[in-house]
Amino acid sequence: MAIELKKLRKVYGESTVAVDDVDLTFEDKKISILIGPSGCGKTTTLKMINRLIERTSGDIIIDGRSIDEIGVIELRRSIGYVIQEIGLFPHMTVFDNIAVVPRLLKWPEDKIKKRVMELLDLMNLDPDEHPYKYPVQLSGGQKQRVGVARGLAADPEILLMDEPFGAIDPINREKLQDAFIEIQEQINKTIVFVTHDIREAIKLGDNIAIFNEGKLVQYDETMTVINEPADDFVENLLGSDRGLRSMELVRVHDHYDTDFFALELTEKLTVGDALKEIEKTDRRYAYVLNEKKRLAGYVVRKKIEKANKSDPLKKHVKETESIHPSSSLLEAMSLMMTSGLSAVPVVDDRGRVRGVVRFSALMEMFGSVDLTGSD
Ligand SMILES: Nc1ncnc2c1ncn2[C@@H]1O[C@H](COP(=O)(O)OP(=O)(O)OP(=O)(O)O)[C@@H](O)[C@H]1O
Ligand SMILES: [Mg+2]
Repeated sequence: MAIELKKLRKVYGESTVAVDDVDLTFEDKKISILIGPSGCGKTTTLKMINRLIERTSGDIIIDGRSIDEIGVIELRRSIGYVIQEIGLFPHMTVFDNIAVVPRLLKWPEDKIKKRVMELLDLMNLDPDEHPYKYPVQLSGGQKQRVGVARGLAADPEILLMDEPFGAIDPINREKLQDAFIEIQEQINKTIVFVTHDIREAIKLGDNIAIFNEGKLVQYDETMTVINEPADDFVENLLGSDRGLRSMELVRVHDHYDTDFFALELTEKLTVGDALKEIEKTDRRYAYVLNEKKRLAGYVVRKKIEKANKSDPLKKHVKETESIHPSSSLLEAMSLMMTSGLSAVPVVDDRGRVRGVVRFSALMEMFGSVDLTGSD
């Protein structure tokens, strides 16, 4: 569900303009980041969406309807909310904490139990041990996972997250972020995520909205923000090493090209057969998949053109490096540099080739960024 902010404004008291006529659309099923200095209006913006704070003027449209029309009850049901650290009820077990909203919604107890167990599993918490613990018995990272599980309990379409990993130490924060990316791949929610950590923004965000003093300074896809910061304020926020930093943080999984050519290898397939296929395209090389459709390697057109046409193709297949979708673009780049390949295939956990990362595409993506970091 997309969330549209229309000239959204919040004035506290007489004259504190916390949110100043903001127009933007959080896209359906994407992670959109709100980032900016303390006091710039991030939390206020977030809380106006589920009406924890009432707006002064403007409108918020969810899935085509104004939030006034939707009504507070339906709004809270369709929107999960996760905040930093606090938020868990200390006198309630993990199970009861997660079950809060479903119980308010009067779900039958067996359905609640099923849902809580499902969420514990999703969050990588131990279903035998964790449900019966109290928040004080958990680590910071575990508490945060329970917080996310609670936000997701009633399976809302939208998840609002206000610095959810802010209180976690850097190492565990990285782990939570990695886990969160994987979780979003499964749940595909519309997520609005507040942070003041630019690394976190680049790593998690499909889109990034940058606020300053209540105003929206820039709102773009993450790569566009990195390549074309709207002004000095955004440039400073990104920092001088933004090129390398973003390459390290941006994952392959959003940025590979699904346009590649692959041949399926059989015992009988000859060089001549393969060439016939390749010649239908203008490719310089082809990936070769084995009978289980797993990557076996690649063949270079020019090389096999010189080979004996009746040779089994198998003889000419060269091994190739590959990269996992969760790897960073920097890893892809390093692999290209060390292997001399101008493209690396992206291979998932099941051994399937999902696409390819090309050197030329990386150059295009980071083209206007000085990768030496000396800007
Ligand atoms: N209840 C309130 N009454 C008056 N002013 C408020 C209230 N809540 C927030 N403000 C002011 O509105 C502005 C925006 O606050 P908000 O909490 O949205 O900032 P934020 O971007 O979330 O900051 P932080 O990064 O510190 O969490 C600030 O100037 C703040 O002082
Ligand atoms: Mg805040």
